[in-house]
Amino acid sequence: MDPNQAAAGHAPDTEAPQDNDIVTFHTRKWVKPEDLNPNGTLFGGSLLRWIDEEAAVYAIVQLGNQRAVTKYMSEINFVSSARQGDLIEMGLRATHFGRTSITMTAQVRNMITRHLILTIEKIVFVNLDQDGVPAPHGFTEITYERDRVPTTALPVVRPNQ
Ligand SMILES: CC(C)(COP(=O)(O)OP(=O)(O)OC[C@H]1O[C@@H](n2cnc3c(N)ncnc32)[C@H](O)[C@@H]1OP(=O)(O)O)[C@@H](O)C(=O)NCCC(=O)NCCS
Repeated sequence: MDPNQAAAGHAPDTEAPQDNDIVTFHTRKWVKPEDLNPNGTLFGGSLLRWIDEEAAVYAIVQLGNQRAVTKYMSEINFVSSARQGDLIEMGLRATHFGRTSITMTAQVRNMITRHLILTIEKIVFVNLDQDGVPAPHGFTEITYERDRVPTTALPVVRPNQ
């Protein structure tokens, strides 16, 4: 599906992707004054922070481990932007489960203008053990349930500990 068409169609909030959707859209953001660059449009750094956080949550849900870290992001081409007050939505889908890694693709689109803002073909997260070493996660397929979501919080690590 053309991403602009998809934006116009407002993909439903279900976890499972619709036919031909490249990604499943979960998170919407309202562009606020603090998210703008001096040009008055959405600051790329803000958007990348949101995407990295969205991808981290996705990796945790898919791998069942909070110790999942960003390893790699492929080329990012900002094809359009957003202005204050616009609503944007971010979508992800796992494209490959490796031994210790998960690879995802991401899209961001402007819900107001219906334009695609960017696509990131490849975002790789690595599953770590408690020593910070890559560890096998054992999964090969996407879950659309919450069956892998960790049930205990990690201890908070404070600086100088
Ligand atoms: C994540 C980290 C522990 C991985 O260490 P590493 O020595 O590269 O580990 P490995 O070589 O065993 O690779 C681990 C996995 O990452 C994948 N990988 C490594 N480099 C990659 C790259 N450039 N692109 C895509 N995947 C890559 C490997 O294929 C492997 O996946 P697989 O087991 O599913 O096949 C280490 O690079 C690190 O600590 N990086 C910093 C992470 C971080 O702090 N991120 C937050 C942003 S600052």
